[in-house]
Amino acid sequence: MSKDKDRQRMAELREQLQYHNYRYHALDDPEISDQEFDQMMRELSDLEEQYPQWITADSPTQRVGYAPVAGFDSVAHTVPLLSLSNVFSEEELRAFCQRVERLAETDVRYFAELKIDGLAVSLTYEDGVLTQGATRGDGAEGEDITQNLRTVRSIPLRLQQPVNINVRGEVFMGRDAFVRLNQDRETAGEALFANPRNAAAGSLRQLDPKVTAQRNLDMFCYSIGYCDNDSLNTQSQSLAYLTELGFKVNPNAQPCADADELLDFIEHWAQHRQELAYDIDGIVVKVDSLQLQEALGFTAKSPRWATAYKFPAEQVVTKVLDIAVQVGRTGALTPLAHLEPVTVAGSTVSRATLHNEDIIREKDIRIGDTVILQKAGDVIPEIVASRAELRTGEEEEFTMPEHCPACGGDAVRLEGEAVRRCVNSACPAQLLERLIHFSSRGAMDIDGLGPAIMEQLVKAGLVETPADLYRLEKDQLETLDRMASKSADNLLRAIAVSKDQPLARLIFGLGIRLVGEEAARDLAAHVGSLRGLATAEPEQLMLVKSVGPKIAASVRQFFAEEANQRLLDDLVDLGIDPRAGGQAETADTDLVLDGLTFVVTGKLEGWSRSDVEQLLRGAGANITSSVSRNTDYLVAGEKAGSKLDKAQSLGVTVLDQTQFRDFLNERGVSVD
Ligand code: IVH
Repeated sequence: MSKDKDRQRMAELREQLQYHNYRYHALDDPEISDQEFDQMMRELSDLEEQYPQWITADSPTQRVGYAPVAGFDSVAHTVPLLSLSNVFSEEELRAFCQRVERLAETDVRYFAELKIDGLAVSLTYEDGVLTQGATRGDGAEGEDITQNLRTVRSIPLRLQQPVNINVRGEVFMGRDAFVRLNQDRETAGEALFANPRNAAAGSLRQLDPKVTAQRNLDMFCYSIGYCDNDSLNTQSQSLAYLTELGFKVNPNAQPCADADELLDFIEHWAQHRQELAYDIDGIVVKVDSLQLQEALGFTAKSPRWATAYKFPAEQVVTKVLDIAVQVGRTGALTPLAHLEPVTVAGSTVSRATLHNEDIIREKDIRIGDTVILQKAGDVIPEIVASRAELRTGEEEEFTMPEHCPACGGDAVRLEGEAVRRCVNSACPAQLLERLIHFSSRGAMDIDGLGPAIMEQLVKAGLVETPADLYRLEKDQLETLDRMASKSADNLLRAIAVSKDQPLARLIFGLGIRLVGEEAARDLAAHVGSLRGLATAEPEQLMLVKSVGPKIAASVRQFFAEEANQRLLDDLVDLGIDPRAGGQAETADTDLVLDGLTFVVTGKLEGWSRSDVEQLLRGAGANITSSVSRNTDYLVAGEKAGSKLDKAQSLGVTVLDQTQFRDFLNERGVSVD
């Protein structure tokens, strides 16, 4: 097979991937499925592995290809990144418009955009290729964070046209990504980010681009620093041009004729901002004509042709009635403020987590304090500060208990961790939380078995471990509150059905510290069974994609405990012993190879042809004997012969034995 062909294919793949990335991110209108996209990515990275000399900087595989840095270089901005003046009321906005209209001496049209709550960055492209990305810094000079920005998927590495351009925009973290990140950090005992903006800032300033890459950052572009296109006359046209080049531009923007229309737009988003998937902190009002913008010019700090109408973060005042300590399933003790109920950002709040003792000390929050409350990421209630001046002297300082409030066991704070943990794994509070977790949505998903019923089961002494759930009998359930014959039947059925949940869910459900859903999925595919997990050596576990030394050690520690070994034996005895890649696994993943056509040829070490075919069919694939344009993959062993030639000439993806194994592993199909 000629090298030239491969090289050509690599260029073709890069171009296609770049186009589909553009459809997905800039236009929000993908033409192909995520699966097809991933397949093309894989084909390209396989080729790049074979021909590293032909990897280009703009290759879509190169978003995370860079090593950590010691620090960031500074960058002088060719065109400064200025900030905006603010207005806070209708009167101030009208005054802004009047001033603009007086200075302009002509009819003024405006353009209104959302003010995204993130960090301003500047992106520079030469001949359409991203060459530099920088923070705003002081406006004149920022920091070179190119390698980190390359990991943000909505930032094009190559534009749709080979232009020279400098673009500005806001990097941010969506609310979902923020909530997930904080959940993971909480599980890992790491300090939490107060809001999505801080999380985005912390992620952008990472010295290791691999960390940034995991943070799900996003970017909306909103202006051009400079470019070679001199046919742009308005802000609306600039945004359309940015979209055309491949940038992601916020769709919620519009021209407005006057202050009244601007105020309508502002009012609309003040009401609807909660519905957005990201935080905004106001509306940016710009003069639409670029010529007029230039004529109006700048003051020392900000443009005269734009201003920001700032939304107040909705804050309310309430009282801390008490600070209770909750015990989580991993034993983490979390202080929780009980509040006088108040309504904030659309819901009533009566509790707010205080995360850990350091945060309480930093904010100096005492029981009885009047406090200011808001929602972080407009979702999670957060106590911003206490109003110390309102204290009466009756307030009590909070101290974190050194013993677990549930079992009285030692609560220990390890060095480097922000949280204190109850170290008694038989602690009843941990037990209850572990059981609730076991039956929860992402884990065994036992319908109808929520926290309230679980608590009753534990209190009645019917359940101590997850295995006990599978031993429950109808007359036992009927002793519970509001549990009639029919609901008892339903619950027993739901428990029985959960026996067939895939291994990944079971592993996640065990609540092993640091093992989240992703690690559980990867572990399941690797170890194949519960016993496989219990007996794997840390070195073996560390071969798994999302598993590092900490997770591997945590898995080992879990199974080293006698109670957990007993749990494992009990589960297996009770018939809860799913195999990855077996029936249960594919049921959950919906036949991962469904619709794909394979041809298998040549000799595969340790596998008979029929083994391989059975495996593929089991995961939903079609198998044919000859290669055609309809073939998705050729699995080629030793001495593959003419089928290999044909596949290569048709551009069919070829997997050798190692690649095939990886391919299956990545999709959770067990090969053993
Ligand atoms: S235009 C010269 N448009 O708000 C004017 N800024 O205090 C450049 N921001 O530093 C800014 N969304 O980080 C503009 N649609 C938008 C924006 C926006 C967020 C941020 C930006 C800027 C700050 C102004």
